[in-house]
Amino acid sequence: MSMLTSMVGWIDDRFPLTKVWNEHLAQYYAPKNFNFWYYFGSLAMLVLVNQIITGIFLTMNYKPDAELAFGSVEYIMRYVDWGWLIRYLHSTGASAFFIVVYLHMFRGLMYGSYRKPRELVWIFGMLIYVALMAEAFMGYLLPWGQMSYWGAQVIISLFGAIPVVGDDLALWIRGDYVISDATLNRFFAFHVIAVPLILVMLVFFHIVALHAVGSNNPDGVEIKKGPKGNRWSDKAPADGIPFHPYYSVKDIVGVGVFLMIFSAIVFWAPEFGGWFLEPDNFTPANPLKTPEHIVPLWYFTPFYAILRAVPDKFLGVVAMGAAIVVLFLLPWLDRSPVKSIRYKGLIFKSALAIFVVSFIVLGYLGTQPATPGRTMLAQFFGVLYFLFFLLMPIYSKMDKTKPVPERVTE
Ligand code: HEM
Repeated sequence: MSMLTSMVGWIDDRFPLTKVWNEHLAQYYAPKNFNFWYYFGSLAMLVLVNQIITGIFLTMNYKPDAELAFGSVEYIMRYVDWGWLIRYLHSTGASAFFIVVYLHMFRGLMYGSYRKPRELVWIFGMLIYVALMAEAFMGYLLPWGQMSYWGAQVIISLFGAIPVVGDDLALWIRGDYVISDATLNRFFAFHVIAVPLILVMLVFFHIVALHAVGSNNPDGVEIKKGPKGNRWSDKAPADGIPFHPYYSVKDIVGVGVFLMIFSAIVFWAPEFGGWFLEPDNFTPANPLKTPEHIVPLWYFTPFYAILRAVPDKFLGVVAMGAAIVVLFLLPWLDRSPVKSIRYKGLIFKSALAIFVVSFIVLGYLGTQPATPGRTMLAQFFGVLYFLFFLLMPIYSKMDKTKPVPERVTE
């Protein structure tokens, strides 16, 4: 017996190392027909690890103090060895996280991955998404630039629109009558430890739930219900292949391509024309000077556009919240007899296309100063956004679907 085998044996007698390895990697049988869209789960994990590691190093030199925060970020950029790289990896990582997660969610929409038996995979995913938004929002206050300050001011004041308890709630969140050092300190605590812990825990549950029911695939066919027996095991689904090494190797290709694009942005265009780091945030926070246009970063703008489209502030907040809540309900709104878009009909395909266009147009409108014309457009596309969900129980049933094959197609 080699030393390694005996060491693993020693551990296995005390801890389920080989068992976990096999159950979740070497003998986790994933459908053999994964495509491009299945890269984004592992990429989301990669970006999460990047955020945590670069975040730890940023914390070593960042000062969570309203007097020092802005300067400490400049200090990291100029004087800390490789500080500029660590900061750009973290700030670009934040936008990359949302790009990857939006594509990952879109895959779920296309292939019906949210449907039975994966409802909990989806719900955990949605909780991750909400936690991610909280994480990004609080992280953005930390550099204490103009947009950090005024962005937080706008968002926290939204809570003030809630009847009866609103003002007290906003006061409670800020810890002061205005955004101040107290707000910065608590956002730092949440951003650096509380929310990351929740995120990591949710990702763990997301994967546990997924592995309990097995992965979906571009055909939306349940491989566990199909014939049994493949090259590796008589009991495994015939259309499953071991995650490791087949998909671990495939995912490395995705990681390689992702890192090329990601590093190109980090090294050559970290501000990405103001989309990843806003120009106004290179000016220190000034509570006495409101910037002309207060704009959240791009990943929040579809929801921001919905908020601004509603004339009443409180109802705007409700609409913005509802835009996120409806996503949670998706598993119960889709009544189509088939899962994957491959076998859905023209109605669902058109509805999804309209939804994607609405989301992008709303995202664009959210970055622009509001004019009466733009507000009308945002109202129009906001209604389309909601109709995608609200009418789904009807059109997903009416839709003319194609016959689903017995087994996955190659
Ligand atoms: C930190 C963020 C996230 C990480 C690290 C993550 C990770 C993963 C991984 C590794 C997989 C398996 C590989 C794959 O199918 O691509 C997966 C599957 C899945 N994820 Fe996520 N995920 C995240 C966020 C989300 C979000 C926000 C949603 C949706 C709201 C979501 C919904 C799903 C669904 C439905 C599946 C099953 C897909 C299928 O089998 O077709 N995930 N996730």
